[in-house]
Amino acid sequence: MKVFFGILFIINSYVAAKLITSDELRYLFIKAVKNETTDNEWKTIQDVFEIYRPASNALKMQYETNTRSDITCLVCNSAFAALSDLVHEGNSDEMLIEALTVLCIALANVSEKTCAGLMPLNIPILTYIVKTTPAAAPRTFCGLVLQNVGNPNTCSFNDPRFEWTIDLPEKNPIRVDTIDTKSNDPLKIALITDAHIDPLYEPYGVAYCNEPTCCRKGQTPRSHEYDIDVDDSVFKGRIFERGNDYILDLDLANDIRNLSHATRSTRNSPPAGYWGDYRNCNTPYWAFDDVIETIAKHGDIDAVYYIGDSIDHHVWETTYERINEVNLYVINKMRKEFGDNVLILPSIGNHESQPTNQFAPSSVKLDKINTTWLYESLARKWDFYLTDDAKVTVREHGGFSMLIRPGLRVISINNNIPYKSNWWVVYDPLESKKHLEWLVRELHKAESAGESVHILAHIPPGVHDLIYTWTREYNKVVTRFSSTIKGQFTGHTHSDEYKIFYSTEDGSPINMAWGAGSTTAYTFYNVNYKIATFNTTTFEPSNIVNYVYNLTEANLTPHRRPHWFQLYDMKNTFAINDLSAATMNDLTYKMVTNNLLALDMYAAFYSKLSDGRWPHCNRYCKIDNLCKTVVTVLWQREKCDELRELFFSLYEE
Ligand SMILES: *[C@@H]1O[C@H](CO)[C@@H](O)[C@H](O)[C@H]1NC(C)=O
Ligand SMILES: *[C@@H]1O[C@H](CO)[C@@H](O)[C@H](O)[C@H]1NC(C)=O
Ligand SMILES: *[C@@H]1O[C@H](CO)[C@@H](O)[C@H](O)[C@H]1NC(C)=O
Ligand SMILES: *[C@@H]1O[C@H](CO)[C@@H](O)[C@H](O)[C@H]1NC(C)=O
Ligand SMILES: *[C@@H]1O[C@H](CO)[C@@H](O)[C@H](O)[C@H]1NC(C)=O
Ligand SMILES: *[C@@H]1O[C@H](CO)[C@@H](O)[C@H](O)[C@H]1NC(C)=O
Repeated sequence: MKVFFGILFIINSYVAAKLITSDELRYLFIKAVKNETTDNEWKTIQDVFEIYRPASNALKMQYETNTRSDITCLVCNSAFAALSDLVHEGNSDEMLIEALTVLCIALANVSEKTCAGLMPLNIPILTYIVKTTPAAAPRTFCGLVLQNVGNPNTCSFNDPRFEWTIDLPEKNPIRVDTIDTKSNDPLKIALITDAHIDPLYEPYGVAYCNEPTCCRKGQTPRSHEYDIDVDDSVFKGRIFERGNDYILDLDLANDIRNLSHATRSTRNSPPAGYWGDYRNCNTPYWAFDDVIETIAKHGDIDAVYYIGDSIDHHVWETTYERINEVNLYVINKMRKEFGDNVLILPSIGNHESQPTNQFAPSSVKLDKINTTWLYESLARKWDFYLTDDAKVTVREHGGFSMLIRPGLRVISINNNIPYKSNWWVVYDPLESKKHLEWLVRELHKAESAGESVHILAHIPPGVHDLIYTWTREYNKVVTRFSSTIKGQFTGHTHSDEYKIFYSTEDGSPINMAWGAGSTTAYTFYNVNYKIATFNTTTFEPSNIVNYVYNLTEANLTPHRRPHWFQLYDMKNTFAINDLSAATMNDLTYKMVTNNLLALDMYAAFYSKLSDGRWPHCNRYCKIDNLCKTVVTVLWQREKCDELRELFFSLYEE
């Protein structure tokens, strides 16, 4: 396979550009893995990564498709195509892990440890999928991981397996009056999520380190700046479309090198806080303990919705042992503090698995790549709280359905399965469909029995993390069962946000998902928990109160417990009569018309009044945050556009 570089004169310019296509890059990657590159070829690969690093850095923030995502897409597609070729040539996992670790260290500009950890954790899963799944096109992997909220064509792929739909059963005649769901016992439920405990957290340790996540024992201070901020304009006009492919202008690498020299600096960053840290740090055990002990002091909690992600973000060095240790710690601590009379209903977060984000179908039994080990171990750890039926389904797919009071059922779904970074989505996109079908069966049974349902789900739909088909079909399910579903409770984002679901039939507001926030400060949030009170006839939340503390302040006095305070209560702070979808829709539209104060509050509460975010949230940030409340189907942003227009028509862009 001969690699060549075309010389092409760009129209209206005197510059001869050095160009590379994605196929050429793919062959270079293959040679690099085999350690067969010439000096010139190696230099080309280095140039590609000089461009790729700053291009991919800013990607998370982008709403629209643009030059940066085109570059990232090209490099990703070439890399996955190369991997696929190498697997089909019969190269062993051991060879690929070793070679890709070397390349990662040379090119990715992250620490050796990061590369040496990530490769052995992920390569066996990727090679298994490539070997077993002829339909797993390299572009599908990239299209999914690079998916963004704003545009369906960011790094598009064409895989008909993702075109599935859910069959919905006919409505039952509801027999509510035949069932005694009435009870005058109050119902108070604590909402806790995203603890991200780091058992190796080091107070006063390194908070700005050479690895993606910091504050852990043994880490070293960052020696240089590798998140180089390169202005968008630098990338403009340096990648060209050809057919459904791209060609990259490699001279861009020199421009970026020059800019990097100008901006590169080493920072002297203050040490990690005692109670946690706004920066890329996870949560010390004692800060998690403090949250649980503080909630226990309320004394009148009936149940806990624990919405997942107990495990840390040190994703390159997760181990079965540490995951098991933390999962056990979390459930034991809650049982000890709340006592045996408080029911705990958990859901699984994307960080619970090994490696992070990977949730294999239960038919995959192989060592190191199955997820059965997690489901089995959680069924055992949660034994005290789960019914036998619930344990059976947790073992199968991580979800369960349990009647927790006469008339009230909790359905905990495992929507890490349709997560875009779960490689197994590419193995079998219908695994997500199966999970949704299970949810539909459970909802249908609940409806027939006249029960109300609370759904627990780690990832809120509408963020860019869930596959499009799932979000579309899930909204249909919510529409069909909107009179049975009395509330959805979610985590994952760490921000404090709600989501309004609109009927897929007539567009009216029909259901609510309440984000629980996080008990970690990662990244730049204050820690929080919520207490939800429910109407015991309808089982709809009648109020939700959020409790927080100021982390900056807490870290000034490490010897003292953090000073918790009530940040707001939905009903009184926002002066609303109830928490129904109709009321919340009304409130949301008022925030961009005649109640700007409510918008300011929403923006402040979004970060839980974090010193690391709140002061930087300008009106673009405010409207972005608000927009997220009305998007529950990926890319369906009409209501967001409507809010934006209303806001900027009144208050001028
Ligand atoms: C790659 O090849 C060079 C010689 O061409 C050798 O020095 C080097 O050790 C090889 N690297 C690996 C990882 O095998
Ligand atoms: C990243 O790049 C900088 C500048 O080129 C270099 O000094 C540093 O050693 C690299 N770091 C890693 C971890 O590769
Ligand atoms: C980069 O900087 C060097 C030295 O300052 C200069 O000679 C060169 O022309 C610059 N290259 C580009 C592409 O701007
Ligand atoms: C799954 O993988 C784990 C870890 O390698 C292994 O211990 C276990 O036996 C495998 N199979 C099942 C069914 O858990
Ligand atoms: C609960 O909801 C029902 C039906 O909407 C309503 O009649 C009742 O007043 C509510 N109960 C409380 C305590 O608010
Ligand atoms: C948090 O506490 C710090 C230190 O006391 C203070 O400077 C800061 O203003 C506080 N932040 C908020 C949002 O109140």
